[in-house]
Amino acid sequence: MSGVPQSNPQKTFYLETFGCQMNVHDSEKVVGTLIQEGYRQVEAVEQADLILYNTCSIRDKAEQKVFHRLADYKKLQAQGKKFGVLGCVAQQEGEKIFERAPHVSLVCGSASYNKLPDMLVKLEGVSGALPPETPRAARKDAALRDDAFIEPETGVGSIDAHPAKTAQGGAASALADRAFGPMDSRGRLSPHQTGNLVRITGLDDRQTDKCFETEFTARTNPHRGYITIIEGCDKFCAYCVVPFTRGKERSRTSESVLAEARQIADLGYSEIQLLGQNVNSYKDPAGKQSFAELLAAVGEVPGIKRVRFTTSHPRDFGRDIIEAIDAVPTLCDHVHLPVQSGSTRVLDAMQRLYSREQYMERIAWMKSAKREISITTDVIVGFPGETEADFAETLGLLDEVGYDGVFTFKYSPRPNTPALGLEDAIPEEEKSRRLEVLMARQREIQIARYRKYIGTRCEVMVEGHNEARGQWIGRTSHNKTLNFTADQAPKIGTYAQVQVTGSFPNSLLGEMVV
Ligand code: 5AD
Ligand code: SF4
Repeated sequence: MSGVPQSNPQKTFYLETFGCQMNVHDSEKVVGTLIQEGYRQVEAVEQADLILYNTCSIRDKAEQKVFHRLADYKKLQAQGKKFGVLGCVAQQEGEKIFERAPHVSLVCGSASYNKLPDMLVKLEGVSGALPPETPRAARKDAALRDDAFIEPETGVGSIDAHPAKTAQGGAASALADRAFGPMDSRGRLSPHQTGNLVRITGLDDRQTDKCFETEFTARTNPHRGYITIIEGCDKFCAYCVVPFTRGKERSRTSESVLAEARQIADLGYSEIQLLGQNVNSYKDPAGKQSFAELLAAVGEVPGIKRVRFTTSHPRDFGRDIIEAIDAVPTLCDHVHLPVQSGSTRVLDAMQRLYSREQYMERIAWMKSAKREISITTDVIVGFPGETEADFAETLGLLDEVGYDGVFTFKYSPRPNTPALGLEDAIPEEEKSRRLEVLMARQREIQIARYRKYIGTRCEVMVEGHNEARGQWIGRTSHNKTLNFTADQAPKIGTYAQVQVTGSFPNSLLGEMVV
């Protein structure tokens, strides 16, 4: 949060973030913007004037979580606190959020964050909202949907998830305009007030060419700086809400990315993570650099010791990325390449734009790299029509690739996505069974893979200290957690050499070498 003025520490906000790395970084920008507008961030909902949730709608479960949170704290509205929903659920549900959670005053999708300062002014212009009774139908709907929890997805490994926000954007925002008043002559959003209830929406900008860039990013990780290089997604996988919620793909110029990388390095960060829904679909609007060239250039910024990037799409994964990793030692030897399924038939139904063979070709490139590249992935089980044979192909693919981490998800039907219309839904119990089988197989693979590190020496970035265990927490270039003991306390954020002495399915154990 360095260097950001706090002009009026009286106004306070609380922000909770759900979902992927993109959302985490969006929140850093939102926090920076709010601080610039005179707000102070607080740690507890009870201390805040404004309570914000930056939401994820990639799966139903993630979406329901937000409505649970809103319901939990509804009572605080009587104290004049205001509630806002940002991010993917905001974009997806639009003004319907006001029906399900009438104490919400602000609904804003990620493409409209640059309008937040205006929205805040409007929000402040009205006193604490006392909304009318929730209509009976909406209450019933909320109750029904609150029950509709799905089991949590699971992961064996590391990494992040995609963000999400959704569709009916056009229709919802048109509706919102009618209900809540249009933009004013400066393109600002107008609030609509019904009695004491104020409702402000920012949902209209998913087609914008601009990425949300702000000089006020409040970076929450003191050592790893996130840089969004591309926003949105044009791929439209059959199961996914992201293209609807995050809008069309748009990249920043390589010049502005490099300027931010240099700025981050000057601030003392030694690790940079480049972010995008499909980070490797990056296209420099100025036409200067390819993704691989930009990656290499960021890796050469003085002071930067590690560069990561996530998430890559297999269709756009070129060999030049591996060549960049080979050529530039600061580029971490880890690639997250979501496969989703090992069956070409299912990949086709998912509209993933590649076959199993094409995916495996990318894996072969990685395996021929000079350094051993750690590979992680995402898998969805139970996509409509997935047969036992398809599932067996996915299990076989896990063996063939030898992943260091797999994030596993049960298919969750999402609004407006093409897969909603598909027949042959897989029963919930069968999805759960496949998930268990897949995780058990991957666990065995990881036990073997992690064991191979015993006896080797790894450089880690020291990320934290576990008092209870008397261990330091480190992260390798491969993106593995390496917990270690040290005779002399290392400084957080520095790099240490660690001798690996033990392994678990998800982490390594070691001793610092002086
Ligand atoms: N159901 C289940 N998993 C999904 N993902 C995206 N959409 C869905 C869905 N509707 C998973 C994909 C993606 C990860 C971030 O979330 O595996 O790579
Ligand atoms: Fe979703 Fe597919 Fe785009 Fe990834 S590539 S964000 S899974 S639509």
